[in-house]
Amino acid sequence: MLESTVVVRPDLRVARVNPRTFGSFVEHMGRCVYTGIYEPGHPSADENGFRQDVLELVRELGVTVVRYPGGNFVSGYRWEDGVGPVDERPRRLDLAWRQLETNEFGLNEFMAWTRAAGVEPMMAVNLGTRGIAEAVDLLEYANHPSGTHLSDLRVSHGAREPHGIRMWCLGNEMDGPWQLGHKTPEEYARLAAETARAMRQFDAGLELVACGSSGREMPTFGTWETTVLEEAYDVVDYVSAHAYYQLVDGDHASFLASSTNMDTFIRDVVATADHVGARLNSSKKITISFDEWNVWYQRELAVPEDWTVAPRLSEEAYTVLDAVVVGSLLITLLQHSDRVTAACQAQLVNTISPIRTEPGGPAWRQSIFYPFAEMARHARGEVIRPTVTAPTMTTAKHGEVPTLDCVATHDADTGTLAVFVVNRHPEEATELRVPLRDFAPAGTVRAVSMHDADRTAANTQEDPDRVRPLPHEATVEDGELRSVLPAASWSMFLIDV
Ligand code: AHR
Repeated sequence: MLESTVVVRPDLRVARVNPRTFGSFVEHMGRCVYTGIYEPGHPSADENGFRQDVLELVRELGVTVVRYPGGNFVSGYRWEDGVGPVDERPRRLDLAWRQLETNEFGLNEFMAWTRAAGVEPMMAVNLGTRGIAEAVDLLEYANHPSGTHLSDLRVSHGAREPHGIRMWCLGNEMDGPWQLGHKTPEEYARLAAETARAMRQFDAGLELVACGSSGREMPTFGTWETTVLEEAYDVVDYVSAHAYYQLVDGDHASFLASSTNMDTFIRDVVATADHVGARLNSSKKITISFDEWNVWYQRELAVPEDWTVAPRLSEEAYTVLDAVVVGSLLITLLQHSDRVTAACQAQLVNTISPIRTEPGGPAWRQSIFYPFAEMARHARGEVIRPTVTAPTMTTAKHGEVPTLDCVATHDADTGTLAVFVVNRHPEEATELRVPLRDFAPAGTVRAVSMHDADRTAANTQEDPDRVRPLPHEATVEDGELRSVLPAASWSMFLIDV
């Protein structure tokens, strides 16, 4: 049995919890939209074709902001195709995912869906095959009240009120050679800066996200951020970061330590952005929109040969182990709440997702649903980055890493201290001690944990509740939280203080 001590003190405060940390992503990819959030004719669908069973799960998940419409999809997308009378909308080839796009679902449907879900939209513009004119046209269509060609067009399409979309992504993964209209850092930097300037001429208060790197391992990582921010520093608010992780060759230790890579990635982007800020003598701080992250088995991604509507793409069946890793990635995002001010798990339904559906059939929660839902619900108030004393372990991929990862939040309004912990060790349990004297614990603690003797266990249509957080034993005595964390586990402790 290992031993770990986590010191949680009010002066270890990082920032307030950003609600946008608990964002998600709806892309026109596979069945995320069609037969995912939208399925006219489904027994639970409303008059808009929105699946109510899915909407209920989205609310339960606690998602706050949803990025749309892509992803790689957006780099070939013409937003005009997705507005106006549905029967007049063109069918198009979606070159990113080799699927047929019917355009039945577009901007106004998405905005109606966000209102039903109670989430904020984060919209991406196409800077792959398109440019400034199309971006500002979309902005005018979406956000201008009325009295111009494009705003009146929106009104004529039944959306009387402007959508008021505040947060906009200036393209998607433009550093990636797989991207339609892939650009060099210099090409993208100029286009992003000029698009941002034009969009700000419409509304100076927009929140704009410049594309950062599609992963820390990209050959242009660092150079990309520097070049883009040198051009666009004054006109953007965020730089994006994307990262996906997967279990490779059964190496549980490396997989469980994935969040150390995310942590380094965040630190490096912050350092790079601050370096540019210093060179520009700017007092402004750029923050990170980590607007794609998740566990994703990209090795198994097979893009269809035939052009079909809503093919099954990346419909991962997430295991208990995947849920533990997702929990640790969320811990990392929270730990950096001072500089990661938005994040989107990619994606929401069916494709790389916490929610799965069957066409005409049920919707269910995957294993990764639970750490997200619990943390979205209970991470409130101030984020505290505890001091962790724990043994280290050696991993093939990430070198020597601490076996324990932890973040806490303190909600002064409810008097709840929430402690989220992952035991990354693949074989050893650890005895956890959390001295809490500065918080004056009242002695009650509620705890849940996710772990399983069978780490490959997953929820399925037939057995949708196989994997879920289970009550966990913990005590608070003499001002100290004590528990035993099983190997490869994610746990949450809620303490009245
Ligand atoms: O989320 C799936 C894909 O991953 C997105 O379309 C793309 O941006 C990323 O490479």
